[in-house]
Amino acid sequence: MPDFRRKAVRERMTVRLDASGMLSEALGSDGLTHADLDALAPRAAEAVRTLAAKRAAGELPMFDLAQQPDALNRISQLAREVHNEIDTLVVLGIGGSALGSRAILRALAEEPPRVEVADNVDPWSFGRLLDGLDLSRTAFNVVSKSGETAATMAQFLIVRDRLLRALGAIDYKSHVIVTTDATGGSLRQIVNDEGFRDLALPGAVGGRFSVLTAAGLFPAAVAGVRIEDLLAGAAWMDARVQSPSFRENPALLLGALLYLAETRRKTNVVVLMPYSDRLRAFGRWFAQLWAESLGQSVDVDGRPTHAGSTPQPAIGATDQHSQMQLWLDGPADKVVLFIRVEDHGRELEIPSAYGDLEGVGYLRGKGLGALLNMEQRAAERALQQRGRLALTLSVPELNAFTLGQLFQLFEAATLFAGALHRVVSWDQPAAAEVGRRLTFGLAGRKGWEDGAREVEAWLAAKPTRDVV
Ligand code: PA5
Repeated sequence: MPDFRRKAVRERMTVRLDASGMLSEALGSDGLTHADLDALAPRAAEAVRTLAAKRAAGELPMFDLAQQPDALNRISQLAREVHNEIDTLVVLGIGGSALGSRAILRALAEEPPRVEVADNVDPWSFGRLLDGLDLSRTAFNVVSKSGETAATMAQFLIVRDRLLRALGAIDYKSHVIVTTDATGGSLRQIVNDEGFRDLALPGAVGGRFSVLTAAGLFPAAVAGVRIEDLLAGAAWMDARVQSPSFRENPALLLGALLYLAETRRKTNVVVLMPYSDRLRAFGRWFAQLWAESLGQSVDVDGRPTHAGSTPQPAIGATDQHSQMQLWLDGPADKVVLFIRVEDHGRELEIPSAYGDLEGVGYLRGKGLGALLNMEQRAAERALQQRGRLALTLSVPELNAFTLGQLFQLFEAATLFAGALHRVVSWDQPAAAEVGRRLTFGLAGRKGWEDGAREVEAWLAAKPTRDVV
């Protein structure tokens, strides 16, 4: 295991952004120009200063999660306890309370205990998951910042009932670990009443920025992920994203190029395409971060804006064979953001066979990871030939340190893009409307009756002639 305290190791493990596939040197008149970037530079520098001032005032605590020694100790200690008690941990949560932990686990978890993330209330999949568990060797981590989310509370109630019946009213309690707000919400009240083991989520960190809080770190630590290396990677990237210069700050360059593409080239889709199955769940995490942060109806002055491009998670090389045709020959409305992992951590050599058959023999002796990376280069080149916008992030290898960098990089890039769009990217008023007012209303929660009335009236007025 590399020692990430050594500067030489950190340098070697640094994630790099290659922006050339966005620029006119590669793309001719289809590309953005250095003049575009120069013209944006004063506003970008202003965005860096504004966000730094907000951070200094304690308004952006998601940026400071790399330095949280007390929380880290508590998470690590509880994870060690739980690790020794169980074969399986199941995380119950949704949105920001699930996507981050899943992104870490899919990328890095290798050893038992098995850690699953149940982030939906589909009775088929949730029921199947529960049916397959030995409850005496399973713990459940209920994660909800608000402590009120209908989906998570419903999961918890079903699990609690099964645990009670299987283990009894005393023993069941040690199988529930709650991660929620330190003081507010129904879930906190339940913790206080029942005495479950618990972890606190920091106050002003929204779900999509919470991967480096107990929401993401505790399940990861139970799965044996070196969470201190995740935070060290985040801190390493954090130091790089303070600069007001595009040449030094990869998050500023990324956020600015995506902003320019959207506003100057009218792109409305950002495809995130890692060439690594281990980063599939990272794509879903990014989709939430980008969508919930930038999808805003008004700017900071309250004027209508409807900002935001659509994030589209994809996976290489698989989606080369399903979507690349559209990206090359369809509308020029996308930026493809590749993530390339230089060393996949293992290699499978392709054996020699059918040597005299040219269509197969050329593969002999090559590594499967090497082939995957050739596919990425081919895709990048094909986009460039067609004048299509693309960026490439290069990750030396996928480990906790590089993944921590990716989280910090994407969060900072999103906030920089938000600042350039002049929106409050850490708020999400519209999503809360669906998740609370209308869902609580429909489910009959007291005090939310207007939501139910609204949906019922809307359903009653739906024209039946349009149902085929
Ligand atoms: O980003 C967000 O804030 C949301 O996606 C939430 O994470 C999600 O709605 C779950 O909320 P909670 O953690 O309060 O249960």
